[in-house]
Amino acid sequence: MCSTKMVDPKIRNVGATEYSWCKAVHGGTGIAVLALLCSKKPDISLFQIALNKLQNSHPILKSKLHSNTTTTTTSDTNFSFLTFQNPFVKIQQHNLSVTSNILGRNKNDTVSVSVSSFQLILEHELNQNSWHNNSSDDDMFVASIYAMPEETWTVVMRLHVAACDRTTAISILREMLVLMKEGEERENESEDWNKREIGFAMEDLMGSGKGKKGIWARGIDVLSYSINSFKLTNLKFCDTKNTRFSQVVRLQLNNNHTKRVLDGCKHNKIKLCGALSAAGLMAAHSSKNSSRKYGIITLTDCRSSLEPSLSVNNFGFYHSAILNSHLIKGGENLWELAKKTYGVFANSKNNNKHFSDMADMNFLMCKAIDNPALTSSSSLRTSMMSVFEDTVIDDGGNVQREVGVEDYMGCASVHGIGPSIAIFDTIREGRLDCIFVYPAPLHSREQMLDLVNKMKVILIEGGNAYEE
Ligand SMILES: *[C@@H]1O[C@H](CO)[C@@H](O)[C@H](O)[C@H]1NC(C)=O
Ligand SMILES: *[C@@H]1O[C@H](CO)[C@@H](O)[C@H](O)[C@H]1NC(C)=O
Ligand SMILES: *[C@@H]1O[C@H](CO)[C@@H](O)[C@H](O)[C@H]1NC(C)=O
Ligand SMILES: *[C@@H]1O[C@H](CO)[C@@H](O)[C@H](O)[C@H]1NC(C)=O
Ligand SMILES: *[C@@H]1O[C@H](CO)[C@@H](O)[C@H](O)[C@H]1NC(C)=O
Ligand SMILES: *[C@@H]1O[C@H](CO)[C@@H](O)[C@H](O)[C@H]1NC(C)=O
Ligand SMILES: *[C@@H]1O[C@H](CO)[C@@H](O)[C@H](O)[C@H]1NC(C)=O
Ligand SMILES: *[C@@H]1O[C@H](CO)[C@@H](O)[C@H](O)[C@H]1NC(C)=O
Ligand SMILES: *[C@@H]1O[C@H](CO)[C@@H](O)[C@H](O)[C@H]1NC(C)=O
Repeated sequence: MCSTKMVDPKIRNVGATEYSWCKAVHGGTGIAVLALLCSKKPDISLFQIALNKLQNSHPILKSKLHSNTTTTTTSDTNFSFLTFQNPFVKIQQHNLSVTSNILGRNKNDTVSVSVSSFQLILEHELNQNSWHNNSSDDDMFVASIYAMPEETWTVVMRLHVAACDRTTAISILREMLVLMKEGEERENESEDWNKREIGFAMEDLMGSGKGKKGIWARGIDVLSYSINSFKLTNLKFCDTKNTRFSQVVRLQLNNNHTKRVLDGCKHNKIKLCGALSAAGLMAAHSSKNSSRKYGIITLTDCRSSLEPSLSVNNFGFYHSAILNSHLIKGGENLWELAKKTYGVFANSKNNNKHFSDMADMNFLMCKAIDNPALTSSSSLRTSMMSVFEDTVIDDGGNVQREVGVEDYMGCASVHGIGPSIAIFDTIREGRLDCIFVYPAPLHSREQMLDLVNKMKVILIEGGNAYEE
């Protein structure tokens, strides 16, 4: 049946954006984690079958990252994906005593706030960097199960961001839930998995014109970009010396508050990211009494504007970042500021800035990684905050409960290069649920909780204008 000669593994070199993620992940930014809190003990064999199917339908998940340090001309590491014919992800199981050890180690927080065990496991996973040594061929996808206190389990899927942007993470979540629900029902599908191939790099899908600034013809842009971005105001740094790791703070609004904020967005013809950016800027600026310029990075999914366009079923990294700076004087009104910040972003996007600047952003990120001293206190912060252009809407609560998933959190680490706060927002059955990832101890949990509480108050008060 299959006459073409199979090469196992297949090799594809990484594209420019994927390359900058390989460098970022090496330093600790871009470890994506999807954690599910389960009230039923997951059936390991069904979970393994589901994982295999998932890998077969999306070959990038059965890939390893190969790093090849060229000794000849440069000392640069060259990365490629090695995609195997057979799925290989094995579930790592952690018993309660292992979990308790991790919880004990990570609970040693000077803060008096209680952090749930589930969140502590998420934080633990965000800091497991299997790609740090780039010595061997490292799996792009790792799955684990932790036995938790009180008869619960945490299922974790950890991925390299070059293989998994947020759109992919959400697709993985949805497909896994369906596969777990189906169980063995549809064990044999006739599809020839071997024919599925890993997708293209984003740069290979940018039609004529869009991205054509030519990387070397653009020194001036890059220069102004870097000088400006590294001069923007940062949040106060608490500890610039000690080794960084990622921590998480969560913000949740009830249905009523969420509805009013969304009504506010609709009324002002903006997306939620505008309101989140504005609330973040106001909260960050609240302790300052002079005008400051802050940077916000908006991540936008490029799938629909590529040529040919891609769907959410094309797994990989297909986001692009737009950096805008915003001058804050103090005393701003949430909705006025939200309209302004969203307008600046939307205008950049309309001018295809996400494509034309893509190479600049990658270049800038790599420059800062190689020369941390370019950034203030070697903090490696590129902006105050990052948001996603589009919010994830999740009304799948029923399916989740059916398979015993009580809660889930998905986000990626930022303790290498990145923003001070990366926001991962979802609207889950009508409630806003945001995960804020930040680099500790550069920023402390107290500092972040304070900032997030201020944002919450700003959003709720802003929403009150749209109370029915
Ligand atoms: C691993 O890759 C990173 C990113 O390219 C590079 O900075 C580092 O030197 C590499 N380490 C080794 C041991 O090759
Ligand atoms: C690694 O790099 C060397 C030198 O460029 C090349 O000959 C070799 O084929 C590369 N290996 C892989 C697996 O890409
Ligand atoms: C990586 O290796 C491939 C094949 O050896 C080569 O074509 C490509 O230019 C290399 N990329 C870098 C960044 O060195
Ligand atoms: C838990 O797992 C660890 C590591 O795999 C093992 O050493 C230990 O004996 C296990 N404990 C129990 C109670 O099974
Ligand atoms: C816990 O915190 C205390 C006080 O800061 C410190 O002395 C101790 O070494 C920490 N323990 C661990 C396991 O990190
Ligand atoms: C990376 O290498 C160091 C030193 O060789 C080792 O201690 C560490 O365990 C390695 N980390 C991983 C994730 O392999
Ligand atoms: C799986 O394949 C076998 C053999 O072809 C067949 O008998 C069986 O009905 C199939 N099962 C399903 C669920 O399609
Ligand atoms: C939400 O609004 C409805 C109707 O105004 C009210 O009955 C309900 O108590 C509110 N819920 C919360 C949590 O405030
Ligand atoms: C701004 O804050 C500084 C330090 O807190 C204070 O000395 C100064 O008087 C303040 N300026 C204004 C205009 O409030």
